Amino acid sequence: MAVIIDGKAVSKKILEQVKKETEGFGKKPCLAVIIVGGDPASKIYVNNKRKTALELGFESIVKELPENISESGLIEEIEKLNNDGKVNAILVQLPLPKHINSEKIIETIKPGKDVDCFHPSNVGKIAVNSEVFVYPCTPKGILSLLEEYGISVEGKNAVVIGRSNIVGRPLSMMLVNKNATVTLCHSKTQNLKEITKSADILISAVGKPKFIKREMVKDGAVVIDVGITRDEQGKLSGDVDFESVKDTVSFITPVPGGVGPMTICSLMQNTLELFKQQNQRFWKK
Ligand code: GUN
Repeated sequence: MAVIIDGKAVSKKILEQVKKETEGFGKKPCLAVIIVGGDPASKIYVNNKRKTALELGFESIVKELPENISESGLIEEIEKLNNDGKVNAILVQLPLPKHINSEKIIETIKPGKDVDCFHPSNVGKIAVNSEVFVYPCTPKGILSLLEEYGISVEGKNAVVIGRSNIVGRPLSMMLVNKNATVTLCHSKTQNLKEITKSADILISAVGKPKFIKREMVKDGAVVIDVGITRDEQGKLSGDVDFESVKDTVSFITPVPGGVGPMTICSLMQNTLELFKQQNQRFWKK
């Protein structure tokens, strides 16, 4: 029986540290979130971000913009936040409406305030393993979980499934930077089972319930499940067939309560980190 990785507990512990550190500053880190349109799931995510930020003593700005805003109108709003000295961190909630070019929007965010690490210049820094402002939230949260449970990635075979810009791509580079041997699989990968079977650390970010079956996982592997899908009854499922896999692996994340809570936790750490970077002169003795 595997150790069940408790993302809720790790997130709580890290957030308590962030709150404590924030109390010492006498000035509030400020996270600005832009949401375009009324997608219900995005609204819930943004509300949770706002709530958590306020609980930590951060300042929270949420800009709710209409679905039909023009691309140039959205760019103007981002530029206002770029130029606002009070704003330390900017997040544009994705996905954006179809008439807006997301890449162009992401490239408008000032790299030093890019709390998601989505700007190509920030992603490029990960690619060449140079110093970044902050790391992308979900990959950072996954590495925090591994670290908290004493799981080293160095020299291990890490298999990542899913090549999204939010999770799979940056995570695979971050694992390489930590000296893992990384295979990045995706929808066109052939012989997936043979590859997943070779994984010491298997990370699935696909969004297909119960996609990873017991026979695809090596005995004793560490299994990290990034997938979250809600069925018609509203029940959440991960990518991993948890009940069948949990008996043969060493560590496994549940859904919910595994990777999920870590994303928002990393977002708060990143906001504090950007705040500190931007106020460095102020803090220096
Ligand atoms: N939509 C889903 N996940 C994310 C995320 O991590 N950041 C942003 N900005 N949008 C998202």
